[in-house]
Amino acid sequence: MRNLVFAANWKMHQAPADAAAFMRTFVGQYARQQDRRVLFFPSAVSLHVVVQAIKERADLEAGVQNIHWEDKGAFTGETSAPLARGAGARHVLIGHSERRHVFGETDEETGKKVAAALRAGLTPTICVGETLAQRERGETLAVVTRQLRAAVAGIDAGVLATTIVAYEPVWAIGTGKNATPADAGEVHSAIRAELRSLVGERGAAVPILYGGSVNRSNVDSLLAASEVGGVLVGGASLDAEQWLAIARSG
Ligand code: 13P
Repeated sequence: MRNLVFAANWKMHQAPADAAAFMRTFVGQYARQQDRRVLFFPSAVSLHVVVQAIKERADLEAGVQNIHWEDKGAFTGETSAPLARGAGARHVLIGHSERRHVFGETDEETGKKVAAALRAGLTPTICVGETLAQRERGETLAVVTRQLRAAVAGIDAGVLATTIVAYEPVWAIGTGKNATPADAGEVHSAIRAELRSLVGERGAAVPILYGGSVNRSNVDSLLAASEVGGVLVGGASLDAEQWLAIARSG
């Protein structure tokens, strides 16, 4: 059976009241499907609302969009992995392109954050992806491989096999330009090969999600592409009806 992952990244949207209304609609209308999990990455201030809404549901899980790599300390404005875990998060996005390109997060920092997530029992979704300039220079596979290796450096093979990877080409995020299924399939196949070279056959179990302008119209063709095991969705996950349609697709 497939083990699909549908992940909603709400970015800096959905205050607690909006998140509560969304979750009432979604949980009320979404029936469990055996071949998939649905993950929600709300703003940290709305995490408790989502955690509360899904507590009876094993197929729905919540996470945070970012963590600091230290477990605790004087880091004003930051959230640690143990704090997020204590608030009910089970997942965390690491190295999202907006963290890398808006906030200057480095490959080395993503590696420290992956280690911190795993120490605290959070499942990291490791985000990788090239810019348009890098794609045009033919560097896509080199960039994605470098980002993946840096993120998992020093992680035990068995633990690495429990993580999730997301391929999000920077030029496709929030632009309405999604990668073609063939483009996505080529990069996903390269990521799968890299995972196998890092951890052997266990690398086959890691879901590889596609993200970047996914919507209800293009989701089926993307899910049919080689090694695409789910989707990580921004804008189209903010509307409960559209997110319901996406989570039921494939
Ligand atoms: P969009 O779906 O809005 O393009 O965002 C993708 C993304 O960054 C998900 O993490």
